[in-house]
Amino acid sequence: MMRISQQARWCRRPASSRHARAALEEIWKTIYIVVLLTITAVTGATGNRMAAQAGHSTVMACPHRTGATMVTWKISPKIGGPCTLEFRADQNRVHRTNCSDSVKSEFQPEQFYALEIQQVGMADEGNYSCELVNQEGNFHQMYQLTVLVPPRLSLYCDNHSIPVCKAAAGRPAAEILWVPENSSMTEIDSHDNGTVTVLSRFTAHSTNRKTVTCKVYHATLNETMSTDCSSHSITWFLHHVMILGCLLSLIFLFALFHLYVFCDNRTMRKQ
Ligand SMILES: *[C@@H]1O[C@H](CO)[C@@H](O)[C@H](O)[C@H]1NC(C)=O
Ligand SMILES: *[C@@H]1O[C@H](CO)[C@@H](O)[C@H](O)[C@H]1NC(C)=O
Ligand SMILES: *[C@@H]1O[C@H](CO)[C@@H](O)[C@H](O)[C@H]1NC(C)=O
Repeated sequence: MMRISQQARWCRRPASSRHARAALEEIWKTIYIVVLLTITAVTGATGNRMAAQAGHSTVMACPHRTGATMVTWKISPKIGGPCTLEFRADQNRVHRTNCSDSVKSEFQPEQFYALEIQQVGMADEGNYSCELVNQEGNFHQMYQLTVLVPPRLSLYCDNHSIPVCKAAAGRPAAEILWVPENSSMTEIDSHDNGTVTVLSRFTAHSTNRKTVTCKVYHATLNETMSTDCSSHSITWFLHHVMILGCLLSLIFLFALFHLYVFCDNRTMRKQ
């Protein structure tokens, strides 16, 4: 009995406490709205970030809604003019303006009116938005497509026996790390077609390890390559010693020949 009456008293809290609770609810509501707005802003305004590898295909879908009367794909590429694909259910007809042939859509409701790019190229990079109209209203889905290009990798010893790791013509730029970890010099070269070449030189002199490893990180691949430039440096040295030896012997032979001719002349004159 005692407990119930206490509970009852607890429920009939003073006005100030009720105000506090109302304020708390208001705060929660605000946080909820802010979170919702943020989610809407992120998915609506900037859209889903999509990455596709050049030469591969990619598929983007419309909002998952049924009973579409009209579906429109609007493509704004980074380079070049926009293109639209419009589907009207009542006419069962697709209207295309300025879209390249590699951009395709079957406008199948069961595939969410998906758009397919069969061979993604650098020119396909840009914004893709689908607008779906049905009885309930208009629905949008945005995608920001970026194109990835795997870099060509190589690891070699330069003329000074320094290991050089190269990730050529990748998109975005690859990241190069060395094992053993060491200071390295990195050169970054941006090309007109949007790809980037990253070249890293291993600049350690005090390492006892002969084999060095270069690790390349990229959105399309991770690769580890190893090399030993010290043997390269020995062969390089031997190579030069051999050339020098040949040159010296040539000079020696030449001198010998001249000496012979000179002596021969003198003996001839004496006679
Ligand atoms: C794509 O959309 C983003 C975010 O809305 C915008 O900043 C960007 O300029 C757009 N790019 C193109 C090519 O329309
Ligand atoms: C289609 O492309 C042509 C030439 O690139 C351009 O002049 C025209 O305005 C474009 N049409 C639309 C609807 O974007
Ligand atoms: C590359 O490695 C990173 C980190 O180890 C990993 O998150 C990523 O998924 C890998 N990517 C590929 C393409 O293997």
